[in-house]
Amino acid sequence: MSKKLNISDLHVEVSGKEILHGIDLMVNTGEVHAIMGPNGSGKSTLSQTIFGHPNYTVTKGSIRLDGKDLLPLSPDKRANLGLFLAFQSPNAVPGVNIASFLKQAVNAKRRFVDPAFKGLKIREYRELLEGTMQTIKMKPEFAQRYLNTGFSGGEKKKSEILQMAMLRPDIAVLDEIDSGLDVDALKAVCEGVNTLRRETGMGVLIITHYPRILKYIMPDTVHILMDGRIVRSGDHTLAHRIEEDGYDWLKSTEKPV
Ligand SMILES: Nc1ncnc2c1ncn2[C@@H]1O[C@H](COP(=O)(O)OP(=O)(O)O)[C@@H](O)[C@H]1O
Ligand SMILES: [Mg+2]
Repeated sequence: MSKKLNISDLHVEVSGKEILHGIDLMVNTGEVHAIMGPNGSGKSTLSQTIFGHPNYTVTKGSIRLDGKDLLPLSPDKRANLGLFLAFQSPNAVPGVNIASFLKQAVNAKRRFVDPAFKGLKIREYRELLEGTMQTIKMKPEFAQRYLNTGFSGGEKKKSEILQMAMLRPDIAVLDEIDSGLDVDALKAVCEGVNTLRRETGMGVLIITHYPRILKYIMPDTVHILMDGRIVRSGDHTLAHRIEEDGYDWLKSTEKPV
């Protein structure tokens, strides 16, 4: 099913200061968009706002999923409608293993669609979990660990990808999932994302400081965010230009070259 995330003239304040000054962005299922920008440009502000983090106040503009206004909705409702956010630094939840956490999450999402849904049977759930882990090449033991407790950077990202694979979102927002990963871990995580894209047709919004992740997940469109504004959009070659030249050339107020 095709869905569309539509962000229009989005202005966002944090602690009384405007950080985003009118963002326009449209992501359809099946598409990969990348948002790149230097540190402090407002990338995480955008991802947190898409998910309804209470510290980020929308003062103007809209965020819609298939025409439905997301702004009045809590983060869990936004997730139930088909969004997923992979966090830059996910929280640890000692005492709760990944398997049981994900079972709650999957059941909650299904109940949202069908209020009479009683929850997956033990065996159904086990098959879903094992099948999903196999698809994204994860060892089944991983699901027995406590959520993000004592995880390396790479393991935290793996746990986010597993959540995404289980929840099957229409649009996934990946905020700096490449940060702190070595090349092998980065490749494994990107392979998981690509497998899910192929299988589910989800749309992806990749938020990143570094172009290297875009070697493994090829974007259809690249947007450059600077000082809370999208200053340039283009195809994947824009990411190569950033890799060669950094961001400074975009600061110029002269006409684009
Ligand atoms: N909770 C906050 N309180 C005050 N300022 C914040 C807060 N979160 C972000 N900012 C400011 O907003 C700007 C953008 O930050 P952020 O969205 O995290 O950028 P990025 O993810 O691109 O590095 C920065 O100047 C940062 O200092
Ligand atoms: Mg950030």
